[in-house]
Amino acid sequence: MNPLNHVAIIMDGNGRWGLRNKNSRNAGHRAGLNTVEKIIKETIKSKVKFLTLYAFSTENWKRPKKEIKFLFKLLEDFLKDKVEDLNKQKIKLKIIGKKNFSSKLNNLLKLSEKKTKNNKRLQINLALNYGSKAELIDAFKELKKNNIIINEKNLSKYLQTRNIPDPDLLIRTGNTKRLSNFLLWQLAYSEIFFEKKLWPDFNEKDYNKIIRNYKSIKRNFGKI
Ligand code: IPE
Ligand code: IPE
Ligand code: MG
Repeated sequence: MNPLNHVAIIMDGNGRWGLRNKNSRNAGHRAGLNTVEKIIKETIKSKVKFLTLYAFSTENWKRPKKEIKFLFKLLEDFLKDKVEDLNKQKIKLKIIGKKNFSSKLNNLLKLSEKKTKNNKRLQINLALNYGSKAELIDAFKELKKNNIIINEKNLSKYLQTRNIPDPDLLIRTGNTKRLSNFLLWQLAYSEIFFEKKLWPDFNEKDYNKIIRNYKSIKRNFGKI
């Protein structure tokens, strides 16, 4: 049985779910938040230590302003509402991606990280304004600037995921088979599961089924 330490999720399909069920993409984003809460609970139950959630990519700025505004309002309300609760559950929150939002949101994000920084039960990495290509370029630039030898170990230390083990398992919901600029370096040896269901329809049972399948895979890492 494979150990499971880190799950990464591309939470895709909110917009389609919203359009189909409530005639509004934004309603889908709201519904997706319920799935986030369910999956966090289940992740703790499964004793997984790291959960990385792709919430907003560097490419998502290409969406209509109204949708972007709605997404960030949803995030702000979620944090205001839930950080205390996350803290009580001993969850550490870490943002990966560039925090260049409004100063109000930046402060809220920093405060949420600070408040939860000593928690040890589960670390949630929220990928926000995250793009893997930008992350890699920034890391290479820093290595060069500081005259540091480029090797795997040093590069890993300069990524935003420093101190986070690579994901064992990647799940993408929403019936699409691509990475969309997510953790390109870190996913080099992850087991990947593409799930047909849209994110708001994804539930604990689906999650546990994937985890069970993952655990029985023969992971070779190049060996036989
Ligand atoms: C993923 O759902 C959530 C974000 C990108 C914020 P989408 O909004 O991409 O949903 P679909 O893929 O359009 O259905
Ligand atoms: C990936 O989903 C980003 C997030 C889930 C936050 P997208 O819906 O943005 O991906 P593409 O554009 O379909 O590849
Ligand atoms: Mg999508």
